[in-house]
Amino acid sequence: MMNDLVNHTAHQPRLDFGHRDCQILIASRSTAAVDNLKQILAPLPKTKFKTQVLMNGHIDPLSGLDALPDLLVFRLDSNWEVELEALCARPACQRPPMIIVSAESDPQVMRSSMQAGARDFFVEPLDVEEIQRSVERLSREVMDNPSDQEAKITIVMNAKGGSGASLIASNVAHALCQEYEQRVALVDLDLQFGSLSYYLDLNLKHGIKEALDNVDDLDAIALDGYLVKHSSGLRVMGVEEGRMILNDEVSSERLRHLISLLARAHDHVVIDVPRQIDLITSTVLEMADQIVVVTQQSITHLRDTSRLLDVLRDDLEIPNEHLEVVINRYQKNSMITQTEIENALKFKSMICIPNDFKSVSECLNDGVPLLNVARRAPVTKGVIELCESVRGNKADASHTVLGRLFAKLKGA
Ligand SMILES: Nc1ncnc2c1ncn2[C@@H]1O[C@H](COP(=O)(O)OP(=O)(O)OP(=O)(O)O)[C@@H](O)[C@H]1O
Ligand SMILES: [Mg+2]
Repeated sequence: MMNDLVNHTAHQPRLDFGHRDCQILIASRSTAAVDNLKQILAPLPKTKFKTQVLMNGHIDPLSGLDALPDLLVFRLDSNWEVELEALCARPACQRPPMIIVSAESDPQVMRSSMQAGARDFFVEPLDVEEIQRSVERLSREVMDNPSDQEAKITIVMNAKGGSGASLIASNVAHALCQEYEQRVALVDLDLQFGSLSYYLDLNLKHGIKEALDNVDDLDAIALDGYLVKHSSGLRVMGVEEGRMILNDEVSSERLRHLISLLARAHDHVVIDVPRQIDLITSTVLEMADQIVVVTQQSITHLRDTSRLLDVLRDDLEIPNEHLEVVINRYQKNSMITQTEIENALKFKSMICIPNDFKSVSECLNDGVPLLNVARRAPVTKGVIELCESVRGNKADASHTVLGRLFAKLKGA
């Protein structure tokens, strides 16, 4: 549900990924317990350790870190209730899988730990082999299933120029970050006339061109250097200020790699793509969990939307459940009703984002997101409704749009 409090939590990128060691954080109020656990777990293969001793009233073992670990080994003591509460106060996406070690043998500690999501539970004195086995098993599981940690990828595409795709992409990304506490990356793939930096009043010094050039050497920390941070915590990537990239300057391999890196370091990646089907857009369409097609209430919009949906559904074989049609600048008293559009496009339950010249102008002129200029306006509620929808969908991994597209283009 939408949280009514504005959250300014500093979002942490995930640590590096790929064929690498599992990053394990050992945390406790007791220095001796941390040292003991580190000594026990140090022999495990493909692991790297960080430690955190909770001091000066700090109770959250994950606070103050630059990046979340892959795994948390948390040793509780007599203050266990408060320590578990601090962990549970974090959104689930900001809690890595964890193993709890307890100094207390009280059965309630075990019950509460499991309720807090612990994957295993040990009471001191520790059986060294048993805890080693458990940590090794869980670290292997976490590292073998990076997809568990991957972001949802949502593409926002115009059915016709000027329909509002950039306004919607930037505001959905911002709302996912601010209201749902997700780590969100917003990517502007309009490589020639990108506008997202204006929508959020950001200056893109480093951007997509440099990131693509260096993609082979990037890890999550280095990647963050190519993203501009909005005050909400939202990360934005687009073409560097004053630059323009031609489509044939972009290798689809590198682009795919870059989007995968972004997906592994965030909870949600929102991509604003120009309305064309080419190597760049089909590369990201292939990776998307959800494609939001933005249209408006006019005959020409309807005609163009119908054509685009035909291409997406029939040529690229994207299933309907991965498509979302949004009627932007919606007006109840328009000549063309929502039902007529739904019938014409053979598409049910579209989301309507109302026309709101005043709020949208304020948002664009000042570069401030809708949530911050007109939180209760119907246009903002439409954005939130869309957030609810795109949070729900995860694509089937076997969905390979690009392969099918090129098979079609080659006449196969
Ligand atoms: N819901 C809305 N209410 C009022 N005005 C809107 C709304 N949505 C978009 N607009 C107006 O439409 C204009 C175009 O919006 P936007 O730049 O988001 O479109 P786009 O589809 O990304 O365009 P392009 O084809 O250039 O990429 C904006 O300048 C804004 O003023
Ligand atoms: Mg645009």
